[in-house]
Amino acid sequence: MSEDERLLASDKQDDDAQTDSTLRPQTLAEYVGQDAVKGQLKVYIAAAKKREESLDHVLLYGPPGLGKTTMALVIANELGVNVRTTSGPAIDKPGDLVALLNELQAGDVLFIDEIHRLPKIVEEMLYSAMEDFYVDIVVGQGPAAHPVHFPLPPFTLIGATTRAGALSAPLRDRFGISAHMAYYTTKDLSQIVTRSAAIYNLAIAPDAVHEIALRSRGTPRIANRLLKRVRDYADVADMTEATQPLVDKALTALQVDSSGLDATDRRILQLMITQYNGGPVGLSTIAANIGEEMTTIEEVYEPYLLQIGFLQRTPRGRTVTKAGYAHMGAIWPEEKE
Ligand SMILES: Nc1ncnc2c1ncn2[C@@H]1O[C@H](COP(=O)(O)OP(=O)(O)OP(=O)(O)O)[C@@H](O)[C@H]1O
Ligand SMILES: [Mg+2]
Repeated sequence: MSEDERLLASDKQDDDAQTDSTLRPQTLAEYVGQDAVKGQLKVYIAAAKKREESLDHVLLYGPPGLGKTTMALVIANELGVNVRTTSGPAIDKPGDLVALLNELQAGDVLFIDEIHRLPKIVEEMLYSAMEDFYVDIVVGQGPAAHPVHFPLPPFTLIGATTRAGALSAPLRDRFGISAHMAYYTTKDLSQIVTRSAAIYNLAIAPDAVHEIALRSRGTPRIANRLLKRVRDYADVADMTEATQPLVDKALTALQVDSSGLDATDRRILQLMITQYNGGPVGLSTIAANIGEEMTTIEEVYEPYLLQIGFLQRTPRGRTVTKAGYAHMGAIWPEEKE
């Protein structure tokens, strides 16, 4: 992987902790886009506060970088409660879960990121905790072992996942509120870039904002990361304002193309077109050829390529669409007509 590819891959996967904390919206009003999700949550949060009850459990699902973690923190902030944050793989035994639950006060939020990666035994313990606010634990060992019924304060579990399909039905059913995070529109991304630029004290022309928004794969995290690189270019060039040509230069250097595809996206399309006549190709074949995990292709790359209509899913595998061929400058095979 080249340095640029590595940077872009980290756009999609890691959090730049420092960027995130300053750029993250704190309230629903500051949270741009996802209007359907926000509209619902506003009502449920107001109702829970009015009744002085804990908010029903919330499941947030969708591709990486769309604002699930941010939304979880916003919800807790709007409720005016404390939030404990953890992730599925971090809780490896029931005792870890009990320790977390034990620290909660009435109404608090427990945020579990990557909830699809909870060990089964922990997940099963969560069922009663979510439904009736208790857990049954075994205390002591050998003949002295005995079950203890452990009541919990009413709390709100917020789970985030990039793979709603990987959640078991019993767990999924225990979330009263389930919210799908969609890719952002160019307009919403423009608003996010404008807001972030203001936080960075960076002057940026409207058409430069638009260019970043268009090339961010519908993803706020990527928009912010690209903006940071543009800021670097502006600083080095001693420019008082980031302009559209500068954005184009910075993003082209990062191998982000006019549709926001990065080098890996293009490698996937290229592979499918040149080696497999546009498909159908199975996910495992794509993964093996590209040298990425199958789940990464499925959760990170493919959803956006499907969203913008460059890929299609068929029962026999993935195919490149006519628009995908056109984008890659390849000739659409006649027999596909
Ligand atoms: N609606 C939004 N408005 C403004 N900025 C946002 C919004 N959503 C996300 N961001 C920005 O994008 C960054 C990534 O968001 P976040 O970490 O919440 O994504 P995520 O869905 O949890 O990703 P992952 O699946 O990788 O955990 C945040 O740091 C924040 O700055
Ligand atoms: Mg997250």
